[in-house]
Amino acid sequence: MYPGHMSIDRVTAQYTQGNLLERIFEALRSAGKDPDTLTVEDLVPVDHFHTLGPLATMALAEATGFRGGEEVLDVGCGLGGPARTLAGRYGCRLTGIDVTPEYCRVAAELNRRVGLQDRIVIQEANALALPFGDRTFDVVWTMHVTMNIEDKTTLYDQLARVLKQDGKLAFFDVIGGEGDVHYPVPWADDPSINHLVDESQLRLLLSTAGFHVHLWEDVTAQGAEFFSKLVAAPLGSHLLITEMPAKMANLRRNLEEGRVRAIRSVCTFEGA
Ligand SMILES: C[S@@+](CC[C@H](N)C(=O)[O-])C[C@H]1O[C@@H](n2cnc3c(N)ncnc32)[C@H](O)[C@@H]1O
Repeated sequence: MYPGHMSIDRVTAQYTQGNLLERIFEALRSAGKDPDTLTVEDLVPVDHFHTLGPLATMALAEATGFRGGEEVLDVGCGLGGPARTLAGRYGCRLTGIDVTPEYCRVAAELNRRVGLQDRIVIQEANALALPFGDRTFDVVWTMHVTMNIEDKTTLYDQLARVLKQDGKLAFFDVIGGEGDVHYPVPWADDPSINHLVDESQLRLLLSTAGFHVHLWEDVTAQGAEFFSKLVAAPLGSHLLITEMPAKMANLRRNLEEGRVRAIRSVCTFEGA
């Protein structure tokens, strides 16, 4: 059983759709794509489940400075869009972990359909109890996951433990700002699974776990603008979660009003 399994149940309930793969295939067909001959690019409108979509994945990859062939752990990999991008564009070997069983099943099936199943392993696991040995990965990558995790001391200790000395932690996260959050948001229908820390708390958590911050970019304004320009299409992030349009509208408002902020960062593990 996972640590904090009651809240994990609430997190998986937040994300589970039950028929996600079928809905994605149906939307792909409506968009003129054949689910039997898919490319990584075909999936991009739906499988980068975070503010700024695939642009954020590319920006974080550029900032990380991949040379090719790195062993990467994607913590909270979701449907696997970022993992497929890193494997396809940079030749990385990926392990993606996530607590939501349906997302793991969909991620593995989409990997198989685009021919990346030998480069990406998907495993159901909790970020708070990573099932890997110490000093395993060159890069630990995480996008829009930590908002659901309350025990951040254990989280950053776990991320540090599995990173090689001088390995990189690359993240794109929502953090707390000023004032109460408008609910529901995509990661939480109510405050019970919304666990945001502010910038100073996050910087302290990182340094305590042995990380040195090399890049810290606040992209809150770009995030708000992104949501203001999103156009509805059959294949889109609305498939991933119930009432997505209302949740994205609240996220936009929270970003605009500075109640939450979006941070892109790259750190190195320099020893605890
Ligand atoms: C908003 S989605 C982001 C998915 C993916 N990182 C992306 O950017 O496309 C958040 C993901 O975090 C996962 N998650 C939340 N808490 C987790 C935990 N404790 N351990 C592993 N995954 C977790 C959820 O199941 C969900 O797939």
